[in-house]
Amino acid sequence: MIEKIDPASVPRRTMPAGSMPMIGLGTFGSDHVSPAQMADAVLSAAEIGYRHFDCAEVYGNEKEIGGAFGQILAGGVRRADLWVNSKAWNNHHKPEELVAACERSLANLGLDYLDLYFVHWPFPNFHPPGCTVDSRSADARPYIHADFMKTWEAMESLLGRGLVRNIGTSNMTLPKLKLLLRDASVKPACNEMELHPHFQQADLYDYVDKQGISIIGYCPIGSPGRPERDRTPEDTVVLEDPLIVAIAKAHGVHPAAVCLKWAVQRGHAPIPMSTNPKNIAANLRAVTEDPLSAVEMEALSRIDRRCRLVKGQVFLWKGAKGWEDLWDQGGTIAR
Ligand SMILES: NC(=O)c1ccc[n+]([C@@H]2O[C@H](COP(=O)([O-])OP(=O)(O)OC[C@H]3O[C@@H](n4cnc5c(N)ncnc54)[C@H](OP(=O)(O)O)[C@@H]3O)[C@@H](O)[C@H]2O)c1
Repeated sequence: MIEKIDPASVPRRTMPAGSMPMIGLGTFGSDHVSPAQMADAVLSAAEIGYRHFDCAEVYGNEKEIGGAFGQILAGGVRRADLWVNSKAWNNHHKPEELVAACERSLANLGLDYLDLYFVHWPFPNFHPPGCTVDSRSADARPYIHADFMKTWEAMESLLGRGLVRNIGTSNMTLPKLKLLLRDASVKPACNEMELHPHFQQADLYDYVDKQGISIIGYCPIGSPGRPERDRTPEDTVVLEDPLIVAIAKAHGVHPAAVCLKWAVQRGHAPIPMSTNPKNIAANLRAVTEDPLSAVEMEALSRIDRRCRLVKGQVFLWKGAKGWEDLWDQGGTIAR
């Protein structure tokens, strides 16, 4: 029997347009979850009570997920009660290509608007899906703000055309966001970034939060199923952190639930991916009952290991020193 959780019990965050459920189902299947399996996960999640789904054209499964949305809507869920994200991939930063990418995502998802549309990465650097981490594109280049502003203006035009209700950034850094906020007519409604207790990104988080921009956290439980090629020896395992394990034991839940409670209580929306209906349900339940205490939250704030899991090596340009350059670690935009 599939567990059902009332969607009304899920915390929400008011956005410039609409209100976003504070947990979503991630839909990036990488190379181990087929599009059909992900569509089944979306169906299970909706049945359990999820209403927020984090999609992207590069995940290669929007058509199948669109089939699932068709069934969910036919089953009586109102479109207004769903919250659907998608993202323009790096090879669609040119304004006309970005608009076409958005229209394609809408057609594949079977929707006539998106609740939130992101620029997936701030670089127009393409790499083929599934390539190895040492693969590099000869055309890759560093962040060029004037070019990104043209991409952002195209994002703003989508709002005017009613194709999207909110626009956002993803994988941004502090210096890039400061430039965008200086020059944009419409500031991002949301920034999607890697966040888990071993990667808390306090400086960027606090800045985004103070600007009134909402935050979605990806890899919220440390992406335990990511393929071997996306792992490095320095990566830590958040689900095995002794503090998280101890808090999980005290609450009688899996360590994943502690990561998700921490996220929502900190103030951002986690988007765990799962194809297992038991885990899908447990993740939703985690954010609707039995919150962490202030003491637990404070203790968790002290276990940041600054461990970035998604390093983005494949986006590096010729002349870049290493993946740290993608993240402007010196506080200025790396060239
Ligand atoms: N904007 C970006 O650039 C970006 C980058 C990366 C990811 N994302 C988004 O973020 C989403 C989540 O990231 P992710 O999928 O890499 O990492 P994640 O959500 O941290 O981890 C997913 C893994 O955790 C397992 N899992 C889920 N719930 C569990 C539970 N309760 N107990 C035990 N294991 C559990 C899943 O396996 P089972 O299927 O067996 O449950 C799956 O292998 C993606 O799907 C995507 O939508 C965005």
